[in-house]
Order: sequence, then structure tokens, then C-alpha cells
Amino acid sequence: MILRAVELLLLIVLGGVWGWTQDAAGWAFAGAFGGAVVWLVHDSLRAKRVLAWLSKGDLSRQPTFSGVWGDILDRSRKLVKKLEKKSANSEARLENFLAAIQASPNGVILLDAQGRIEWSNETAAAHLGIDPQRDLGQYIRNLLRAPAFSEYMSEGDFDHEVQIDGPGSRPAHPVRLSVQVHPYGKKRKLLLTRDVTAVQLAEAMRRDFVANVSHEIRTPLTVLSGFVETMQSIALEEDEREKYLGMMSQQAKRMQTLVSDLLTLSRLEGSPSPGSGDWNDGDELLAHVLQEARGLSAAIASPVHELASVGEAGIWVAGAKTEILSAMSNLLSNAVRYTPAGGHIEAGWRLRDDGWAEFSVKDSGPGIAMEHLPRLTERFYRIDRSRSRETGGTGLGLAIVKHVTQRHGGRLDVVSELGKGATFTLVFPPSRVREKGMGQAPAARVMVHDDMDDR
Ligand SMILES: Nc1ncnc2c1ncn2[C@@H]1O[C@H](COP(=O)(O)OP(=O)(O)O)[C@@H](O)[C@H]1O
Ligand SMILES: [Mg+2]
Repeated sequence: MILRAVELLLLIVLGGVWGWTQDAAGWAFAGAFGGAVVWLVHDSLRAKRVLAWLSKGDLSRQPTFSGVWGDILDRSRKLVKKLEKKSANSEARLENFLAAIQASPNGVILLDAQGRIEWSNETAAAHLGIDPQRDLGQYIRNLLRAPAFSEYMSEGDFDHEVQIDGPGSRPAHPVRLSVQVHPYGKKRKLLLTRDVTAVQLAEAMRRDFVANVSHEIRTPLTVLSGFVETMQSIALEEDEREKYLGMMSQQAKRMQTLVSDLLTLSRLEGSPSPGSGDWNDGDELLAHVLQEARGLSAAIASPVHELASVGEAGIWVAGAKTEILSAMSNLLSNAVRYTPAGGHIEAGWRLRDDGWAEFSVKDSGPGIAMEHLPRLTERFYRIDRSRSRETGGTGLGLAIVKHVTQRHGGRLDVVSELGKGATFTLVFPPSRVREKGMGQAPAARVMVHDDMDDR
């Protein structure tokens, strides 16, 4: 500032002195005035350059001035730098926010006051079949034409969600979406989408299951109460009474097995997988279930089935003994119940080259048509309902078997052709199988190792 004043004064004085040397008082004034004008022109030129630099916005080509213009230039540059840094910080924060919303498993769309898309994350785009870039600025009501959604938007009551079919929804592959609008700011809207297909399917399955269970229980109950009424109203002969009581007890047993199978299933679903510390002798398990099957065959078939144990024996299987036994005996009892009397059934263990162990049950029964195979393990799925009922089936056997094998890290394979018998195989992973060596169960050290393998 002082420099500026000194400059001006100096030029006025110089001009004045020059005028004075012209020997006239008027000239001295004119000289001083001229000096001031020269200073003003020079200063204006500097100001112009500064303004030109500022309006160009290119900070790197800064003109060099001393004095107040230099200060102004320096300070402006610093200010711009500071603002730039601040805006870069805000931008980075905005990017972070958007990245977080992008990572959300829910779809998020921001709508402006007119209902046009301002921003959408990938999930929402995938849910609604829109393009997060191309469809920016489009009216959401033009892109989402489900009648339920249009009604929801025009009603304007956003306290609840609305459910619509996803764009790719087909009867064989349904997609159900939940959409909810949350107003915010000045008439802006946040639109959230959620894929609720799995929830809906689970709900439908639960309803089916309850309906099935009720039906399964109602049937024997109806029969049972019918007999009770008959016995109450008519005086029966001793042998008839015996017959009726026999049939009543059969129905009661049916209900008992159903309840017990349901309990087994719910226990299997609700408990953690069995550890691999308990080793079971494969031969012992096989002998047990074969004996059981012979008993069953003797009770329901004449002539009895030919039941043979096959394959090389000699393995240990790790897991819950009761569960493995129940899976094995389910397969054998199915074979006995669905194979006509006198048929041939063989069961046994086999250790595969890749270390997995198989327990197979092969029968000479009616076999299973291709279309039934994928559904066999569904609860209450039966091919021949009356045959299953007659022999005391609940339709839950294979569902239990599947659960047990999955809990042991294995799976259930079924190979069958209509008219050519069926082979059901339980497959156990190498971590749960040991070849019998010196006739002793694997050492604890191996078990610890196994546990670690499983993790
Ligand atoms: N070895 C088999 N041969 C033919 N069909 C079978 C065999 N095992 C199972 N099935 C069919 O699979 C259905 C489901 O079996 P499962 O779940 O054990 O129920 P169920 O209580 O009826 O035996 C049976 O109803 C039967 O139709
Ligand atoms: Mg069964």
C-alpha cells in the first residue's frame, strides 16, 4: 500500500518538477497532473492483467507483480487452492457415500420433485431392469409400469410398501419385489427396492407344509373317530371288535410315526451339524439295518425278500450314529416296502478311489420314472400314495435322509429307471471316512485334524 502511495507521489512530484523547469506555475500543475495520469494508466494496465488472469482460471500462469497487485494475486491463488481442496474433500466424501449405497443389498433410487430418476444404485437397476446411466432423468412411472406401483404412486400414501413382480418374473422362475417410497427434502423421494422372492417362497412352503401336515393327521383321525362312533352305536361281535380295534391301532400308529418323523425333521433342522469325533463301524451299522429290514420283510411280504449284503466292508464313518442309522434304515425300509414280495435287495458299503464312501441300497422293484427323481426328497412327496400309506409310510423318509447326509457333508444320489429297480446311495466325504486298519477306531489325533478340515 505504502509502495503504491510512494509511486503515485513520486510521479506527481516528477511531473511537477518537470513542469516547474518549464518556468511557469501552470506547467508545474500540468506536470503533476500528467504524472498522476501516467501512474493511473500504468496501474490500470496491471489491474487488467490481474483480471485477465483471474477470469482465465489457469492458476499456473500467474503474472509476477510486486506490491499490492502481487499480494492480491498471491492471496487469490491461495484462496482458490483452499477452495479446490475443500471441494475435492467434499467430492471424496460424496463418492464414499455413493459407494456405500452402491454396496447395499437393497436397491436405492433418488427421485427429484417431479419423480425423475436422479441417481440409482446397481441393485435397484438390476431389480427393476433399468439402466443406471441411460435412464437418469427418466420418469420412474414410465419405467415401472406395474399397476400396483402406479396406484401406489398416485395415491401418495407411503407409510407402507408395495409388492410387484420383477421384470423377468415367470411362473417357473418368479421374482417378487418389495418397493417403498420415503419422501425427504423438498418433495424429493427415496425409493427402496428389496427382493422378497425367497421370503415369499419360504412363506408358501410353510403354508403348504402346514396344509400337508393337517391333511396327513386328519385322515387317520377321521378313520379313528369313525370306528369309535361305530363301536359306540352298535354292539359288535367279539371277532368284529377285535378287527376294528386292530384297524384303530393301525391308524394311531400311523399318527405316531408321522409325529415322530416330524420331530426328527425339526430336530435335524434346528441343531448344529454333528462333529466328526464319533467314529462308527460301517459293518455294524449295516448288520443292524439289514436285520431290521429282514424283520420288516417278514412282517409285510410273503415270500420274504432276498436281502444280501454286498461290497467290500471295512470302514469307519464319523458322525451321529442315530442319524446315520436312520438314514440307512429309511433306504432299506423303502426298498422292502416298494419291492414286490420275493424281490431282490442288496445293500453295502464301498470306498471309492477318491476317498469318498458310499452306502448303496439296490432293489429289483418297480423303479422310479425320471420326472419324479428331482422331487423325491420333498416332504410328503410320494409316487404311489396308497402303497406308501398301506406300508406305513409318511412321505418324510427321504427328506430325513437328505437332511442327515447334508449335515454330514455328503449327499443322496438316486439312480433308477421305470421297471428296472432303483439304487439309492448315501455318499460321505473323505473327512468322515477311514479305512479300517488294525480294527481300531481312528485315533483322537486324526479326529482333531478332521475337525480342522471341516472348518
Ligand atoms: N426303493 C424305491 N422304489 C420305488 N419307489 C421308491 C423307493 N423309495 C422311495 N420311493 C418313492 O419315493 C417316495 C418317497 O419316499 P419316502 O420319502 O421314504 O416316503 P414314504 O414314507 O412314502 O416311504 C415313496 O412314496 C415312493 O413312492
Ligand atoms: Mg420311506
